[in-house]
Amino acid sequence: LRDQGLGEIDQAKSEEMLNDVRVKLVGRKGELTKILHSMKDIEPGRRREIGQQVNKLRDLFNTRLDHAKSELVKALIEKQLEQEKVDVTLPGRVAHLGSKHPINIILDDLEKYFIGMGYEVVQGPEIETDHYVFEMMNLPKDHPARDMQETFYIDPERLLRSQTSGDQARALEKFDFSKGPLKMVGPGKVYRRDDDDATHSHQFMQMEGMLIDENITMGDLKGTLEMMAKHVFGQDRQTRLRPSYFPFTEPSVEMDVSCFNCDGKGCAICKHTGWIEVLGAGMVHPNVLENAGVDSSVYGGFAFGVGLDRFAILKYGIDDIRDFYTNDVRFLEQFCQEE
Ligand code: PHE
Repeated sequence: LRDQGLGEIDQAKSEEMLNDVRVKLVGRKGELTKILHSMKDIEPGRRREIGQQVNKLRDLFNTRLDHAKSELVKALIEKQLEQEKVDVTLPGRVAHLGSKHPINIILDDLEKYFIGMGYEVVQGPEIETDHYVFEMMNLPKDHPARDMQETFYIDPERLLRSQTSGDQARALEKFDFSKGPLKMVGPGKVYRRDDDDATHSHQFMQMEGMLIDENITMGDLKGTLEMMAKHVFGQDRQTRLRPSYFPFTEPSVEMDVSCFNCDGKGCAICKHTGWIEVLGAGMVHPNVLENAGVDSSVYGGFAFGVGLDRFAILKYGIDDIRDFYTNDVRFLEQFCQEE
């Protein structure tokens, strides 16, 4: 049995074969166990000697089995290494770098621009309360202008914010005016009940901006907006303010920039007016200040709200807003930029 067993161990060519041999020799129903089971038929005087021999043989088999197994594993690894050899002369594969999303290009640039002028970047929650988005912004529950924004309500008090203007109220409430002027920009996602098409999306990006101090005038607003527009759309752009209406600003304006497609002469993009509307703004309504506990007889300032999607559409000449959100790599790749 000894020689036969060792022979079988040597011949096993795979781990499975070796395992079969192991079961056959030293397993619970193996040869050695069989001998031990038949001890009762052996005369008592020889049992001890045979028992010892069986144990010795089991140790021998186990040692050889373990050895054979490690040899097999080693051979397997050798073979694998051989097969998986790396051909260092093959040309390398080009790693595809991602590109920044066009809206983020505009956003990052604007943040840098405003930080450079001493503004702080804040971020309000996307699930906001009616309190901040509307009530604090001078839109009580029965205000007709609530219809200007088709809001997704979660329950009577919570909603997906339809504008980032709630960030104004949050900033005003927290601010300590003994430390100087409040200057903040608040970018983020906003949501409106809209049927998606080439020019509408139920979710888009806004950036709120606000400056509050003593003696701030409409001239400060105009200068700030004009500089921003030139920064984003080019120094040659002309800008103009048109009167408008927002419940949280008085007076309210919308800003147009001269059409960069036709240089203000009139084309299909600007509907032959020479101008393209880019944002809403105005002087912060005293009620907004008072609601947040700020003395409107001392402090005042301006606020503006920028549609970042709109900026990106205009700047890059994109004709379908849905391109921003479908993550087609062919679209996104166009915005690879040198940093
Ligand atoms: N929140 C306004 C909008 O979504 C934009 C705005 C912001 C206007 C701040 C005035 C001041 O249309």
